Amino acid sequence: MTLKKILCLILSILTLFSISACGNENNEELSKDIIGIALPTHSLQRWSQDGSNMKEQFEQKGYTVDLEYANDDTETQIQQLQNMIIRGCKVIIIGSIDGTKITDVIKEASNAGIKIISYDRLIRDSENIDFYATFDNYMVGTLQGQYLIDKLELDNGKGPFNLEIFAGSPDDNNATFFYNGAMDKLRPYIDSGVLKVKSGQIEFTNVTTQSWDTDIAASRMDKIVGLYGANEKIDAILSSNDSCAMGVIQSLTKAGYGSAEKPFPLLTGQDCDKLNVSEILKGHQSMSIFKDTRILAEKVVEMTESILKGEDVEVNDTETYDNGKKIIPSYLCEPTYADKSNYKEILIDSGYYTENDIK
Ligand code: BGC
Repeated sequence: MTLKKILCLILSILTLFSISACGNENNEELSKDIIGIALPTHSLQRWSQDGSNMKEQFEQKGYTVDLEYANDDTETQIQQLQNMIIRGCKVIIIGSIDGTKITDVIKEASNAGIKIISYDRLIRDSENIDFYATFDNYMVGTLQGQYLIDKLELDNGKGPFNLEIFAGSPDDNNATFFYNGAMDKLRPYIDSGVLKVKSGQIEFTNVTTQSWDTDIAASRMDKIVGLYGANEKIDAILSSNDSCAMGVIQSLTKAGYGSAEKPFPLLTGQDCDKLNVSEILKGHQSMSIFKDTRILAEKVVEMTESILKGEDVEVNDTETYDNGKKIIPSYLCEPTYADKSNYKEILIDSGYYTENDIK
């Protein structure tokens, strides 16, 4: 073999090495998996925060994120999920709108080898849900119910008081958990007559608020307010979340609540939306359940990485969330509440909001 041939051979070997090394680099680029995040709506602060928290945390770890909001429309969400399947997402995280209507598209995703994490709301009637990550929804309700019991001092023999009840959207699996948690606390006092529900609207089907809509809550409150005489007042309102509480506040303000003779009733909420926290500071709303979406996002990012690495996914509940087809292994984060007395510690000192955000 001539020297020229030997040099040529060495050169080709080196070229091959560099191509394969370069190829590895490209593969690494390409192997940054795409994560789909499908959320119900951008118009409620909580969901836009959920989305941006997850996107930021995934992107920091080098993933590509396809984040979509469906304007509370199930057909739009189905289309977005179909696009995520076509785009080759490896894991799809879904905050569903109607938890019973996306079974087919989830089956398609699962057939394509995509793993599904049900986010915050449980997706029902599908065996293709791999994991569920949420806050302890039943506990959200018990905290709200107990708050009313404590503030009304029912266990010190105070009462009777007038209570009205606003639950969430009937197509959201969470709504029943919130309602049941709160009612398991409140029902004994209703049964004993210490809490009176003048509207007679107590059972879940009579107190739901379609799509958690503020205007729907406001117009139901308008009707209920009309049932109370000039010398009667509502003392407490169980509202499952902040968007419903906002409707209640609008209606009560219109009806003249907020004076010394007719102060705002105790009113619960959930999400600590900025607008509602400022209503708490004004004394129009009493409390709101705080679900630190940074923690839930962190958990979901962790779960996703374990799935992608083929490792065990950490869950802390394998009993509670039966979606009608199977029990979904779940990770439940713990909610707490913020009110006037502790909002600084819970919301400001934790870095969740600045004082300016809620003024
Ligand atoms: C969520 C709540 C939210 C509600 C309305 C529920 O599924 O858990 O945090 O307030 O939806 O968006």
